[in-house]
Amino acid sequence: MNLKHKVALITGGAKRVGKALAIALAQQGCNVVIHYGRSAEAAQQTITELNTAGAKAWLISADLGDEAAVETIIPFAVEQAGRLDILINSASIFPPEDFMSAASATWDRSMMVNLKAPFLLSQAFARTLPKDRPGKIINLLDASAMRPQNHHFSYTISKVGLEGLTMAMAHALAGRNIQVNGIVLGAILPNVNDDPALFERLAQHIPARRTGSPQEVVNAMLYLLQTGDYVTGEIIRVDGGKHLV
Ligand SMILES: NC(=O)c1ccc[n+]([C@@H]2O[C@H](COP(=O)([O-])OP(=O)(O)OC[C@H]3O[C@@H](n4cnc5c(N)ncnc54)[C@H](OP(=O)(O)O)[C@@H]3O)[C@@H](O)[C@H]2O)c1
Repeated sequence: MNLKHKVALITGGAKRVGKALAIALAQQGCNVVIHYGRSAEAAQQTITELNTAGAKAWLISADLGDEAAVETIIPFAVEQAGRLDILINSASIFPPEDFMSAASATWDRSMMVNLKAPFLLSQAFARTLPKDRPGKIINLLDASAMRPQNHHFSYTISKVGLEGLTMAMAHALAGRNIQVNGIVLGAILPNVNDDPALFERLAQHIPARRTGSPQEVVNAMLYLLQTGDYVTGEIIRVDGGKHLV
């Protein structure tokens, strides 16, 4: 897909990895709708940077934990931008809990924000696309989904589900020329509550012996969007080999 003058919607695009993906798309001539939850100021700053990169950009705020709010996102994006070609499901919550401490409410919210919202958004996106127009969906996944451990329990299971959803949607949408792929992230950016030193120590447990960078996620995204037109249902692991150990 030639990204020039296309429009991408990125959930959780105000900051961190979502923002890096947005800026990279703008640099390729793609216009961007930034969805955010609570980071209004950061989202506005991202819009300024996207405009500086030469892209048109729009903002939408919606709580992905609220199904009614989720349902407003795609219609709003299409109304503002005039079209949508790409959906990137990047937003997620990461509540700390093990199996014994996992609460029913946290489970429900993780499944809503991390799994059901991407499902609803992808379905609405596919329904919106005219039948003769190609589309791309990319879901951001987690290396821990392949070998679940006893931490961030409901988050991990939601990402296991999102990996399955990625493949099921790829199958369902292949005939519509909509490719659905996943990018698994290893240790790319420290969680906001984590000690950065702890994050760096993670490198000892990664076969590549280092943490990754948002640019490495950008590289995988650009491959899938720009040259991967016959690639669907694929999971690209940007994790320095973490899934192997
Ligand atoms: N960072 C890593 O090293 C890493 C590792 C493995 C997997 N991943 C995955 O890669 C993706 C991006 O990572 P990240 O670290 O950039 O993510 P992040 O900072 O943890 O979260 C991204 C955004 O999600 C949004 N969000 C969360 N709950 C929301 C809600 N209820 N409604 C609306 N928005 C909500 C937040 O937007 P607001 O701030 O606007 O509220 C937040 O900025 C995530 O799916 C993550 O699971 C990341």
